[in-house]
Amino acid sequence: MIYLNNKLVPENKALISVFDHGFLYGDGIYETLRIYKGVIFKLEEHVHRLFRSAEMIGLKIPKSAKEITKAVYKTVKSNRQSEAVVRITISRGTGPLGLDPSLCTIPTFVIMSHAFRNYPAKYYDKGVPVSIVNTRRNYGPALDPRIKSLNFLNNVLAKIEAKGNASHEALMMNYQGYVAEGTVSNVFFINRNGVLCTPGLKVGILDGITRSIILNIAGELKIKTKEGCFRRNDLYNAEEVFLTNTSMEVMPVTCVDDVRIGRKAGNLTGLIHIKYKEKVAEYIGDHKS
Ligand code: PDD
Repeated sequence: MIYLNNKLVPENKALISVFDHGFLYGDGIYETLRIYKGVIFKLEEHVHRLFRSAEMIGLKIPKSAKEITKAVYKTVKSNRQSEAVVRITISRGTGPLGLDPSLCTIPTFVIMSHAFRNYPAKYYDKGVPVSIVNTRRNYGPALDPRIKSLNFLNNVLAKIEAKGNASHEALMMNYQGYVAEGTVSNVFFINRNGVLCTPGLKVGILDGITRSIILNIAGELKIKTKEGCFRRNDLYNAEEVFLTNTSMEVMPVTCVDDVRIGRKAGNLTGLIHIKYKEKVAEYIGDHKS
C-alpha cells in the first residue's frame, strides 16, 4: 500500500497527475528512513531535515511532524513490514505549466515503504569499488546539496558515469575539486595517521544523519577526526575508505578508481560498523514503546 495525500491506496491506484510539478520540474523534496524491528530509526532527525528541505524551497508541508510519523507507521503496518526502507516524497503539487510555485495550491504527499533487502554480505566483507566521476556536485549557491530535492539529475549523471566504470558508487568533487560525497552517500577515510577524515559541510554536501552518528562514534572510540577539504589523492592514499547512508549503514570501499585501498585486518571500518549497529539496537530498545 502507498500513502497518497491522506489515505492508503493500493500500489496500482497510487497515481499522480502529469501536471504535478514534481514530475514537470523536479520541484519537491524527499527523505529516506530506515525501520528496524518496527521502529523508525532517528525519526526526529529525518523529520527535522524534511522540514528544513521544505523551508529551503519555500514549501509548506501540509502535515505536522506528528501526523507524518503516524502516517509512516500506518503505511509500514499496512504492508506488514518490520524491517523496511521508507521514502517520504512531497512535491509542490499539481498546477498549470509554469515555474511559479503559487500555481500549485496543494502539495502532493507520498509515503512508500519497501521491505528491507540486505545488501550482499560480500559488500561488507570485501567492500565495494567506487570511482571519482567528472560530474561535479551541485554548486551550493546554485542548488544547495543540503536540500534533499526531487531534482536529482546531478546525482543521476554521476551514477551513469559510475555504472560505466563498473563502480558501486560515484564520488563527486565539488566545483573546487575537493571530494564532496557520493550520489546517495557520504564518504569517510582513515589516513595514514589513523585520523578519520570526512569532507566538511562547507564543501557542499548533505549533512547525512548517518555521518553525524559516525562522528559521534569516533569520539567515543577516541579516534581523531577531521572534517575538511580533501583531494582525490587523500582517498588514494587512505588506509581505509567507507560510505555511509541510512540504508547501507557503513559500507567499506575496496578501491577508488584503479587504486586499491590498503585495508588492514581488524580494520576500523568494521569496528565503527559494529558500534553503529549497537547504537541502532540501543535506539530501538529505547523507542520500542
Ligand atoms: N541518501 N549524500 C547524499 C547525496 C544522499 O542522498 C544521502 C542519503 C546521504 C546520506 O544521508 P543519510 O545518512 O542521512 O542517509 C549523503 C538516501 C539514502 C537516499 O537518497 O535515498
